[in-house]
Amino acid sequence: MRTGAKGSNMDKKKFYITTPIYYPSGTWHLGTCYTTVICDAIARFKRKAGYDVFYLTGTDEHGLKIEQKAKEAGVTPKEFVDKKVANLKSLWDRLKISYDKFIRTTDDYHEAAVQKIFDKLYAQGDIYKGEYEGYYCVPCETYWTKTQLVDGKCPDCGREVSLAKESCYFFRLSKYQDKLINLLETNEEFLLPKSRRNEMINNFLRPGLSDLAVTRSSFTWGVPVTFDPKHVIYVWIDALMNYVTALGYQGADDTLYKKYWPADIHMMGKEIVRFHSIIWPALLMALDIPLPKQVYGHGWLLMGQDKISKSKGNIVDPVELSDRYSVDAVRYYLLREIPFGQDGAYTTRAFLSRLNADLANDLGNLVKRTVAMVNKYTGGEIPAWSGKRENTDEEIIALAETTLAEVTANMDQLHIPEALEALFRLVQRANKYIDENCPWILAKDPDKKGRLGDVLYVLLECIRIVGVIIEPFLPDTAEKILSSFEGLTEQEKTFDSVTKFGGLQAKRVIEKEAIFMRVDVEKEIAEMESKIQKDEPKQEAQKAPVVPLPPEITIDDFAKVGLRVGKVLKAEKMEKTDKLLVMQVEVGEEVRTIVSGIAKYYTPEEMVGKQVVVVANLAPHAFRGVVSQGMLLCADDGQGGVVLVSPEKVVASGSEVR
Ligand code: ME8
Ligand code: MG
Repeated sequence: MRTGAKGSNMDKKKFYITTPIYYPSGTWHLGTCYTTVICDAIARFKRKAGYDVFYLTGTDEHGLKIEQKAKEAGVTPKEFVDKKVANLKSLWDRLKISYDKFIRTTDDYHEAAVQKIFDKLYAQGDIYKGEYEGYYCVPCETYWTKTQLVDGKCPDCGREVSLAKESCYFFRLSKYQDKLINLLETNEEFLLPKSRRNEMINNFLRPGLSDLAVTRSSFTWGVPVTFDPKHVIYVWIDALMNYVTALGYQGADDTLYKKYWPADIHMMGKEIVRFHSIIWPALLMALDIPLPKQVYGHGWLLMGQDKISKSKGNIVDPVELSDRYSVDAVRYYLLREIPFGQDGAYTTRAFLSRLNADLANDLGNLVKRTVAMVNKYTGGEIPAWSGKRENTDEEIIALAETTLAEVTANMDQLHIPEALEALFRLVQRANKYIDENCPWILAKDPDKKGRLGDVLYVLLECIRIVGVIIEPFLPDTAEKILSSFEGLTEQEKTFDSVTKFGGLQAKRVIEKEAIFMRVDVEKEIAEMESKIQKDEPKQEAQKAPVVPLPPEITIDDFAKVGLRVGKVLKAEKMEKTDKLLVMQVEVGEEVRTIVSGIAKYYTPEEMVGKQVVVVANLAPHAFRGVVSQGMLLCADDGQGGVVLVSPEKVVASGSEVR
């Protein structure tokens, strides 16, 4: 274990770790949880190892993407993000994310500090005014030059870009090129894994850096430039600054900044490494403040070939997974299954196999069997340990005493699955120890009472050690394991207490329900996969059935149909039917009641905020007493369902469709 972290608060070693700040733009999914769960395990581990830890996370709330999403939802950007942020915080609470601070880029202190920083960079000539012409990818909030585009699309996400031409301010990124190359080439720890470093050097730094456009004037949802307020600060500049503004940099109280900066680790997915290993250090160089010690770009959780993402519809819902299988099953899967630093494909089978094999069988059974034996053979009393070592005692004790060191060495290298693997070697060894020593045979022989006591003690001590070390990874499980011991002291729960065998002082065990339940893999897969399928957009539409066309009409016939764009303001299910939704739809100046048979395909929540196409001059028709003033256009999905027809871009409600 690394030393120097212990002791009084004054001389504790500091450890500052950050996740990126999340775009509160879409639906939270399992991939969303990856960075936060990883950082949580690291933060908890360091705390327990005696470090003074500061774990920062938050939300990245400005920019065109958010402004557009809010508009689509028919609310102000602030209303839009407030709701998403509340949702995200409750997800983090549920997953037991132990962050020390949650920063929102809409927080006043952050906005004020960003403005000060911008002013300073402008005053010293690192920011200057110019003219921008190029391409902008809204989902990525990224500028591209024509030559960087791939088939005319965003090279990062493959989506459409739009031509942007505006007067704006630039950051002199080019000025820092040599320093950045030097940083990445000489400081091997700065950017990990290594492959990302080569990518940055070869693909971005060597070809040459251009100055970066750092303001926008075509929309307003951002931090205004103080000296030219029709410009807002580019969302990435605003966002990156969170790592220092959260600590009070350029704020009223910078105690935390003085204490924790520079960051020990900025953790993130690989797609945003470029911002953190090029733009961020350049900004810090310009501000003349120390650079973070490490930027780590982890891989992606994939669904099929695709990154699980908010916008792709291939979501796996972490709330649903944790409801069904426990929070720790989700945490364990993310920490253990995905090779850290690389991409990993999510499959329900792998998720459930981990749950069954490692958690229910190996760990759950070890605890359950052992506690049951103690209850049976000694009436729940924890036997005293004679300290004698027979058979394989020496081996299991040596393993137990070195497990923390093994796990720590892996954690220090960010070998996270390997750290858990090392811990579970002790679990497996203990299970084997039961089979080797057969306590049920010892229990039959009154002469073997002493030996039986030792065997049970060795097992319980191994379980305590596992319970202590597992806490940073699986906090609920740790609590369950450790609560099997009556009156365990705080000391018996520390890392310090698990490096020497025999620290278990508790006198009795308490039988608890199983920590993890085995599941029927095939049955669960069938159910889970059908859910995921349902959430996927029906992209691969099947061949549409041939529906004969009605007789030809003239353009004048068509003109009789008054089609208008509407926006759904309210939606609810009609009572006593599962087919009909009753909606309040804004069509220009008026709000109409429209009844539509789409309740099987769209929930009321999904409908609110959607733009739809309304047949606005259709004679009113009553459905179960509710008069519908028009109907919504839908397309058959070829599977007996329907999908709504919506304008491809947001337009004013009431617009004519022709
Ligand atoms: O990029 N697998 O925010 P974000 C693994 N606001 N990680 C994933 C993932 C997946 N399928 N999907 C998302 C942003 N993530 C910016 C950051 S920081 C100054 C600004 C991870 O909400 C992603 O890699 O798109 C990133 O680490 C985090 O979720 C937030 O991504
Ligand atoms: Mg992203």
